Amino acid sequence: KKIEDMSLHIKVGIIGGTGMDNPDIMKNREEKEVDTPFGKPSDKLITGEISGVPCVLLARHGRKHDILPSEVNYRANIWALKQEGCTQIIVSTATGSLREDYKPGDLVILDNFIDRTHGRKQTFYDGSFAELEGLCHIPVEPPYCSKLREVIIKTAEKHDIFCHPKGTIMAVDGPRFSSKAESLMFRQWGADIISMTTCPEVVLAKEAGISYAGIALVTDYDCWRPNTEHVSHGLVLKMFKSNIGKVIKLMCASIETMLKEDWTTTIKLNRELVEQSVWK
Ligand code: ADE
Repeated sequence: KKIEDMSLHIKVGIIGGTGMDNPDIMKNREEKEVDTPFGKPSDKLITGEISGVPCVLLARHGRKHDILPSEVNYRANIWALKQEGCTQIIVSTATGSLREDYKPGDLVILDNFIDRTHGRKQTFYDGSFAELEGLCHIPVEPPYCSKLREVIIKTAEKHDIFCHPKGTIMAVDGPRFSSKAESLMFRQWGADIISMTTCPEVVLAKEAGISYAGIALVTDYDCWRPNTEHVSHGLVLKMFKSNIGKVIKLMCASIETMLKEDWTTTIKLNRELVEQSVWK
Protein backbone atom coordinates (compact mmCIF):
# COMPACT_ATOMS: atom_id res chain seq x y z
CA LYS A 1 0.00 0.00 0.00
CA LYS A 2 1.05 3.57 -0.57
CA ILE A 3 2.40 5.50 2.41
CA GLU A 4 -0.22 8.20 1.87
CA ASP A 5 -2.95 5.59 2.20
CA MET A 6 -1.62 4.38 5.54
CA SER A 7 -1.65 7.85 7.04
CA LEU A 8 -5.41 7.93 6.60
CA HIS A 9 -5.71 5.17 9.15
CA ILE A 10 -3.88 6.76 12.02
CA LYS A 11 -4.41 9.70 14.31
CA VAL A 12 -2.05 10.21 17.21
CA GLY A 13 -3.05 11.52 20.62
CA ILE A 14 -0.24 13.13 22.58
CA ILE A 15 -0.55 13.59 26.32
CA GLY A 16 2.06 15.98 27.57
CA GLY A 17 3.19 15.67 31.15
CA THR A 18 4.93 18.17 33.36
CA GLY A 19 7.02 20.56 31.29
CA MET A 20 5.51 19.70 27.91
CA ASP A 21 2.32 21.61 28.24
CA ASN A 22 2.55 23.95 25.30
CA PRO A 23 5.04 22.81 22.72
CA ASP A 24 4.92 24.39 19.33
CA ILE A 25 5.30 21.09 17.54
CA MET A 26 2.20 20.95 15.39
CA LYS A 27 1.21 22.55 12.11
CA ASN A 28 -2.28 23.93 11.47
CA ARG A 29 -3.03 24.10 15.16
CA GLU A 30 -6.56 24.62 16.33
CA GLU A 31 -7.95 24.66 19.83
CA LYS A 32 -11.02 22.60 20.48
CA GLU A 33 -13.13 22.55 23.63
CA VAL A 34 -14.76 19.16 24.14
CA ASP A 35 -16.87 17.32 26.68
CA THR A 36 -17.17 13.57 27.28
CA PRO A 37 -19.62 11.22 29.05
CA PHE A 38 -17.02 11.13 31.85
CA GLY A 39 -16.70 14.88 32.24
CA LYS A 40 -14.29 17.42 30.85
CA PRO A 41 -10.69 16.58 29.95
CA SER A 42 -7.83 18.47 31.62
CA ASP A 43 -7.85 21.25 29.02
CA LYS A 44 -8.85 22.15 25.49
CA LEU A 45 -7.55 19.76 22.86
CA ILE A 46 -5.11 21.12 20.32
CA THR A 47 -5.54 19.50 16.93
CA GLY A 48 -3.02 19.73 14.12
CA GLU A 49 -0.45 17.78 12.13
CA ILE A 50 3.04 16.44 12.68
CA SER A 51 4.80 15.27 9.50
CA GLY A 52 1.41 15.12 7.83
CA VAL A 53 -0.08 12.84 10.52
CA PRO A 54 -3.20 14.18 12.22
CA CYS A 55 -2.50 14.64 15.94
CA VAL A 56 -4.36 15.76 19.03
CA LEU A 57 -2.43 17.25 21.93
CA LEU A 58 -3.67 17.37 25.50
CA ALA A 59 -1.91 18.77 28.59
CA ARG A 60 -2.37 16.14 31.29
CA HIS A 61 -2.32 18.63 34.18
CA GLY A 62 -3.99 21.44 32.22
CA ARG A 63 -1.99 24.10 30.43
CA LYS A 64 -1.78 26.13 33.64
CA HIS A 65 -0.56 22.99 35.40
CA ASP A 66 -3.17 23.29 38.12
CA ILE A 67 -4.51 19.71 38.31
CA LEU A 68 -3.02 17.31 40.88
CA PRO A 69 -2.06 13.78 39.71
CA SER A 70 -4.96 12.19 41.64
CA GLU A 71 -7.43 14.83 40.40
CA VAL A 72 -6.69 14.39 36.70
CA ASN A 73 -9.81 13.09 34.98
CA TYR A 74 -7.98 10.26 33.21
CA ARG A 75 -11.20 8.80 31.83
CA ALA A 76 -12.25 12.10 30.26
CA ASN A 77 -8.75 12.59 28.81
CA ILE A 78 -8.61 9.17 27.15
CA TRP A 79 -12.24 9.31 26.03
CA ALA A 80 -11.74 12.77 24.52
CA LEU A 81 -8.86 11.37 22.41
CA LYS A 82 -10.98 8.35 21.47
CA GLN A 83 -13.85 10.63 20.41
CA GLU A 84 -11.42 12.48 18.17
CA GLY A 85 -10.60 9.16 16.51
CA CYS A 86 -7.10 8.64 17.90
CA THR A 87 -5.71 5.19 17.12
CA GLN A 88 -2.46 5.62 19.07
CA ILE A 89 -1.46 7.65 22.09
CA ILE A 90 2.10 8.65 22.97
CA VAL A 91 2.67 10.29 26.33
CA SER A 92 5.52 11.93 28.16
CA THR A 93 6.06 11.54 31.91
CA ALA A 94 8.54 13.00 34.38
CA THR A 95 9.95 10.21 36.52
CA GLY A 96 12.32 9.54 39.37
CA SER A 97 14.94 6.83 38.91
CA LEU A 98 15.05 3.82 41.22
CA ARG A 99 18.29 2.42 39.83
CA GLU A 100 21.83 3.58 39.38
CA ASP A 101 22.09 3.21 35.60
CA TYR A 102 18.90 5.15 34.76
CA LYS A 103 20.37 8.61 35.15
CA PRO A 104 18.70 12.01 35.35
CA GLY A 105 18.31 13.26 31.78
CA ASP A 106 17.85 9.73 30.37
CA LEU A 107 14.78 8.63 28.40
CA VAL A 108 12.97 5.36 29.11
CA ILE A 109 10.48 3.63 26.82
CA LEU A 110 8.02 2.17 29.32
CA ASP A 111 7.19 -1.51 29.13
CA ASN A 112 5.48 -2.33 32.41
CA PHE A 113 3.99 -0.81 35.54
CA ILE A 114 3.25 -1.46 39.21
CA ASP A 115 0.13 0.38 40.37
CA ARG A 116 0.05 1.69 43.91
CA THR A 117 -2.51 4.40 43.29
CA HIS A 118 -5.82 4.28 45.13
CA GLY A 119 -9.37 5.29 44.30
CA ARG A 120 -8.68 6.41 40.74
CA LYS A 121 -11.33 5.30 38.27
CA GLN A 122 -9.81 2.49 36.18
CA THR A 123 -12.71 1.54 33.94
CA PHE A 124 -15.18 3.14 31.54
CA TYR A 125 -17.62 0.30 32.17
CA ASP A 126 -19.14 1.30 35.52
CA GLY A 127 -22.52 2.56 34.32
CA SER A 128 -21.41 6.20 33.96
CA PHE A 129 -22.04 6.01 30.21
CA ALA A 130 -25.20 4.08 29.31
CA GLU A 131 -23.91 3.23 25.83
CA LEU A 132 -21.19 1.07 27.37
CA GLU A 133 -23.11 -1.94 28.62
CA GLY A 134 -21.70 -4.60 30.90
CA LEU A 135 -18.42 -4.97 32.73
CA CYS A 136 -14.97 -5.00 31.22
CA HIS A 137 -12.21 -7.30 32.48
CA ILE A 138 -9.38 -6.16 30.26
CA PRO A 139 -6.11 -8.14 30.24
CA VAL A 140 -3.36 -5.53 30.50
CA GLU A 141 -0.28 -7.60 29.70
CA PRO A 142 1.54 -6.19 27.78
CA PRO A 143 0.34 -2.80 29.03
CA TYR A 144 2.22 -0.76 26.43
CA CYS A 145 1.76 -1.40 22.69
CA SER A 146 4.70 -3.56 21.52
CA LYS A 147 4.60 -2.24 17.97
CA LEU A 148 4.48 1.39 19.03
CA ARG A 149 7.37 0.80 21.45
CA GLU A 150 9.40 -0.82 18.67
CA VAL A 151 8.75 2.14 16.40
CA ILE A 152 9.94 4.58 19.08
CA ILE A 153 13.05 2.52 19.93
CA LYS A 154 13.94 2.14 16.24
CA THR A 155 13.45 5.87 15.72
CA ALA A 156 15.66 6.74 18.72
CA GLU A 157 18.44 4.55 17.29
CA LYS A 158 18.13 6.12 13.88
CA HIS A 159 18.33 9.64 15.26
CA ASP A 160 21.03 8.87 17.82
CA ILE A 161 18.78 9.72 20.75
CA PHE A 162 19.86 7.65 23.74
CA CYS A 163 17.05 5.79 25.48
CA HIS A 164 16.58 2.76 27.72
CA PRO A 165 14.38 0.42 25.64
CA LYS A 166 12.43 -0.78 28.66
CA GLY A 167 11.50 0.10 32.20
CA THR A 168 8.94 -0.79 34.83
CA ILE A 169 7.28 2.28 36.23
CA MET A 170 5.94 2.54 39.76
CA ALA A 171 2.76 4.59 39.95
CA VAL A 172 2.12 6.37 43.24
CA ASP A 173 -0.67 8.73 44.29
CA GLY A 174 1.36 11.75 45.27
CA PRO A 175 1.19 14.68 45.42
CA ARG A 176 3.89 14.02 48.00
CA PHE A 177 7.13 12.33 47.01
CA SER A 178 8.11 9.02 48.64
CA SER A 179 9.90 8.39 51.90
CA LYS A 180 13.31 6.78 51.75
CA ALA A 181 11.89 3.52 53.15
CA GLU A 182 9.25 3.48 50.40
CA SER A 183 11.82 4.29 47.75
CA LEU A 184 14.05 1.40 48.90
CA MET A 185 11.03 -0.92 48.93
CA PHE A 186 10.05 0.05 45.36
CA ARG A 187 13.61 -0.77 44.30
CA GLN A 188 13.25 -4.22 45.85
CA TRP A 189 9.95 -4.70 44.06
CA GLY A 190 11.82 -4.43 40.77
CA ALA A 191 10.54 -1.04 39.62
CA ASP A 192 13.01 1.03 37.59
CA ILE A 193 11.38 4.45 37.71
CA ILE A 194 8.55 6.20 39.56
CA SER A 195 5.82 8.70 38.71
CA MET A 196 2.34 9.80 39.79
CA THR A 197 0.38 9.61 36.55
CA THR A 198 0.93 6.49 34.47
CA CYS A 199 -1.93 4.65 36.16
CA PRO A 200 -4.73 4.47 35.28
CA GLU A 201 -3.96 6.26 31.99
CA VAL A 202 -2.32 3.22 30.37
CA VAL A 203 -5.12 0.89 31.47
CA LEU A 204 -7.87 3.18 30.22
CA ALA A 205 -6.18 3.43 26.83
CA LYS A 206 -6.28 -0.39 26.67
CA GLU A 207 -9.99 -0.37 27.51
CA ALA A 208 -10.54 2.26 24.83
CA GLY A 209 -8.81 0.01 22.28
CA ILE A 210 -5.99 2.46 21.62
CA SER A 211 -2.28 1.61 21.27
CA TYR A 212 -0.44 3.44 24.04
CA ALA A 213 3.26 4.11 24.61
CA GLY A 214 5.12 6.25 27.12
CA ILE A 215 8.39 8.12 26.91
CA ALA A 216 9.59 8.75 30.44
CA LEU A 217 12.19 11.35 31.22
CA VAL A 218 14.26 10.71 34.32
CA THR A 219 14.43 13.93 36.32
CA ASP A 220 15.88 12.73 39.64
CA TYR A 221 17.07 9.80 41.79
CA ASP A 222 14.04 10.03 44.10
CA CYS A 223 15.50 9.92 47.63
CA TRP A 224 17.19 6.50 48.00
CA ARG A 225 20.64 7.33 46.64
CA PRO A 226 23.32 8.47 49.10
CA ASN A 227 25.03 11.82 48.58
CA THR A 228 22.54 12.83 45.90
CA GLU A 229 20.10 15.73 45.78
CA HIS A 230 16.68 14.40 46.79
CA VAL A 231 13.73 14.84 44.49
CA SER A 232 11.92 18.17 44.76
CA HIS A 233 9.40 20.01 42.61
CA GLY A 234 12.11 22.46 41.58
CA LEU A 235 14.50 19.69 40.51
CA VAL A 236 11.81 17.93 38.45
CA LEU A 237 10.90 21.16 36.64
CA LYS A 238 14.50 22.18 36.04
CA MET A 239 15.46 18.77 34.65
CA PHE A 240 12.34 18.48 32.54
CA LYS A 241 12.79 21.94 31.03
CA SER A 242 16.41 21.27 30.11
CA ASN A 243 15.63 17.88 28.50
CA ILE A 244 12.19 18.38 26.98
CA GLY A 245 13.74 19.03 23.56
CA LYS A 246 14.85 15.39 23.38
CA VAL A 247 11.38 14.09 24.26
CA ILE A 248 9.73 16.30 21.65
CA LYS A 249 12.32 15.34 19.02
CA LEU A 250 11.76 11.63 19.67
CA MET A 251 7.98 11.98 19.64
CA CYS A 252 7.90 13.89 16.38
CA ALA A 253 10.40 11.59 14.68
CA SER A 254 8.47 8.53 15.90
CA ILE A 255 5.25 9.90 14.44
CA GLU A 256 7.04 10.25 11.12
CA THR A 257 8.17 6.61 11.38
CA MET A 258 4.61 5.53 12.26
CA LEU A 259 3.47 6.79 8.91
CA LYS A 260 5.55 4.14 7.18
CA GLU A 261 4.04 1.24 9.13
CA ASP A 262 0.88 -0.72 8.52
CA TRP A 263 -1.28 -0.47 11.64
CA THR A 264 -4.32 -2.35 10.35
CA THR A 265 -3.70 -5.55 12.35
CA THR A 266 -2.72 -3.74 15.55
CA ILE A 267 -5.81 -1.54 15.48
CA LYS A 268 -8.01 -4.57 14.79
CA LEU A 269 -6.47 -6.61 17.62
CA ASN A 270 -6.83 -3.71 20.08
CA ARG A 271 -10.54 -3.48 19.30
CA GLU A 272 -11.09 -7.23 19.40
CA LEU A 273 -9.44 -7.44 22.82
CA VAL A 274 -11.95 -4.94 24.20
CA GLU A 275 -14.90 -6.74 22.60
CA GLN A 276 -13.76 -10.06 24.07
CA SER A 277 -13.33 -8.51 27.51
CA VAL A 278 -16.81 -7.05 27.93
CA TRP A 279 -19.33 -9.17 29.84
CA LYS A 280 -22.91 -8.26 29.09
N1 ADE B 1 8.03 12.52 39.09
C1 ADE B 1 9.30 12.90 38.88
N2 ADE B 1 10.12 12.43 39.84
C2 ADE B 1 9.34 11.73 40.70
C3 ADE B 1 9.58 10.99 41.88
N3 ADE B 1 10.81 10.90 42.40
N4 ADE B 1 8.53 10.40 42.49
C4 ADE B 1 7.28 10.49 41.96
N5 ADE B 1 6.99 11.18 40.86
C5 ADE B 1 8.01 11.79 40.23
